[in-house]
Amino acid sequence: MTSSTSHAHHHEPGHHHEHDHGHPDTDDSLAQVLDLDAEIFAPYLAGVTARIAERAGEGVTHVVDLGSGTGTGTFALLERFPGARVTAVDSSPAMLARLVDAARAKGLGDRVDTLETDAGAGLAGITGADLVWASASLHHVDDPAAALAGVHAALRPGGLLAVAELDGMPHFLPDDAVAGRPGLETRCREALAGLHAEQMPHLGADWGAMLAEAGLLVEDERTERLELRDPLPAGVGRYAHVVLDRIRGALDGRVDPADLAALGTLVDGGPADVRHRDDLVVRTTRSLWVARRPADSA
Ligand SMILES: C[S@@+](CC[C@H](N)C(=O)[O-])C[C@H]1O[C@@H](n2cnc3c(N)ncnc32)[C@H](O)[C@@H]1O
Repeated sequence: MTSSTSHAHHHEPGHHHEHDHGHPDTDDSLAQVLDLDAEIFAPYLAGVTARIAERAGEGVTHVVDLGSGTGTGTFALLERFPGARVTAVDSSPAMLARLVDAARAKGLGDRVDTLETDAGAGLAGITGADLVWASASLHHVDDPAAALAGVHAALRPGGLLAVAELDGMPHFLPDDAVAGRPGLETRCREALAGLHAEQMPHLGADWGAMLAEAGLLVEDERTERLELRDPLPAGVGRYAHVVLDRIRGALDGRVDPADLAALGTLVDGGPADVRHRDDLVVRTTRSLWVARRPADSA
């Protein structure tokens, strides 16, 4: 592995850390959302990695998963590129520890290494990467332009960056899901979008323009509306539950208390709980940009 700085720590898969056991620092419900999202939208993810593979061509040996979280992208890309290893990059040591454990459990530990860093500080020591994958992560970074400069430097000339983003919380419920509170979910989505706009000003950014600004050539840009209806994949009820439960915490004080209480009935294990309903339809909008570091760039 390459050099470490005080802000960037490389972890080899063989090295266990104190927090590896039980992952007390991890945001468990976020980890669940990420894993369930990847499971439920596996066909979409497989389609995306297939399109990237067509553009990447032969000889992909080093992939970087930027803002890897639990490794949804890492594992999809290890499968898509059997000859590649992945460097998972995240600012959360707990997420990386969880990812390394999952890699070992899948027998993929020797194909994964990690870099703990703030993506805005560049990708210490990574050069010559064939592909950088950044899913739902760039909008968290304070200075995405700095992060993209780091990606440019980490890629080999001709290498690809794929940016996957989503439009916010998925939609699950019919308008009249809770008696007496029509439009409940829409109001919650709007309140959440307001909160996100305050906390993550780059959510919903024009990544095509940002990639071009960073000296990358945008080759593909597409937005897809995904909709899952009956028969739903297994896990949708649990996914809706963990998403709505997280939102309930975030929206305390930001929506009408009657809406907050109604939201509570969707996650409290009672008859209206999303894990028991048969009227869920999952709707979400996903965007993908694929850009290339010019072959002749210094
Ligand atoms: C919404 S999750 C997405 C995880 C994964 N890419 C996926 O799509 O399943 C965002 C991840 O980015 C990480 N992250 C947030 N800010 C970051 C930063 N400045 N540098 C590196 N990682 C960051 C978080 O720790 C989290 O794991």
